[in-house]
Amino acid sequence: MTKPIILTGLRANNDLTLGNYFGGMLPIIDMAQQKSDEYQINMFIPDLHSFTTPIKHELLYSQIIQTAKLFAAAGLPLDNDSIYLYRQSYVPAHSELTWILDCFTYTGELARMTQFKDKSNLDESKLLLLKKEQNKLLTLSTSVGLYNYPVLMAADILLYGAKYVPVGDDQTQHLEFTRDIAERMNSKFGELFVVPEAVKKQHEFFGNDQGLRIMDLVDPTRKMSKSATSDKGVIFLSDTPDEAAKKIMGATTDDKAFVAYDPLEQPGISNLLQISALLSGKELEAVIEKHAGQERYGDFKKEVAEQVKSFLVHFQEQLKQVDEAAVMSKLESSEKAMNEQANATLYRVQQAVGLRPKA
Ligand code: TRP
Repeated sequence: MTKPIILTGLRANNDLTLGNYFGGMLPIIDMAQQKSDEYQINMFIPDLHSFTTPIKHELLYSQIIQTAKLFAAAGLPLDNDSIYLYRQSYVPAHSELTWILDCFTYTGELARMTQFKDKSNLDESKLLLLKKEQNKLLTLSTSVGLYNYPVLMAADILLYGAKYVPVGDDQTQHLEFTRDIAERMNSKFGELFVVPEAVKKQHEFFGNDQGLRIMDLVDPTRKMSKSATSDKGVIFLSDTPDEAAKKIMGATTDDKAFVAYDPLEQPGISNLLQISALLSGKELEAVIEKHAGQERYGDFKKEVAEQVKSFLVHFQEQLKQVDEAAVMSKLESSEKAMNEQANATLYRVQQAVGLRPKA
């Protein structure tokens, strides 16, 4: 009666943006609800991943709980027994399996991970330049944690035998690595792990997103991201509704004075049209049609600003209503169940590598 498993990790550090909400959180919650009849859904907060790059540790714990509450506020059902919501560090098997997998992973495999290369900034000359420019202290060296992160991610997936893992572009390499290490262990030790499906199959399974991407308001050629240099282009779920409305009013547009959907020529206006579509739950086409030809950008922006404002008022109210005790109890019951599942896998691995007696 065990169901196949869909697994996804939802990062906790930093604040979620409107882009994260519509591009990540909502689609995942929808998916979980739709698939939970046939699949076990593992949603977890990869808290051990939170400090592969420097963070404010004094804030981490409350951010982890906040993330769980955000999911509840966004509609994740807490009473669905096929959906588990758990914190990685509450299931110690993740760390233990990571160490074992580490010993079968080659340094070269990890060194070529794009995300590692991007984030580690190994290029010293570039670093020094940055240091001068920003006139602030930058960490000069990279942690082993950042380097090792894909192995922990592989453990996250392999402990539960997850077949389906929705992955964004930045995670495809890590998923491929997970498949590699699973296959390597299987060929060395016999069938230990379920090998997750390849990226192409993952995309077929989850379907393509509607292509709606929220862009930065100041630089609409970039994705809206919390790592942007300025907060002015980024709407956070925690912004006050007025703050957020101001950001919309200040969004970069163009001098055409003609509302049209043209992401190349009018990226700012096109982005506002998309935001409006997402916030109103309407088809993009309908929103484009409604505003087509509007000449006063100010009027158009005001409408979008109002939408953002009422969305945030509503969302923040829902967040306030979230029953923290219910969230904690969901986390705890999920963690209990997950420890059982994960420990069973870990034990098989420990037996295979010789740390435990064979049955
Ligand atoms: N690496 C993912 C991210 O940065 C988060 C994550 C950690 C994850 N472990 C995972 C995602 C396992 C899927 C499966 O977004």
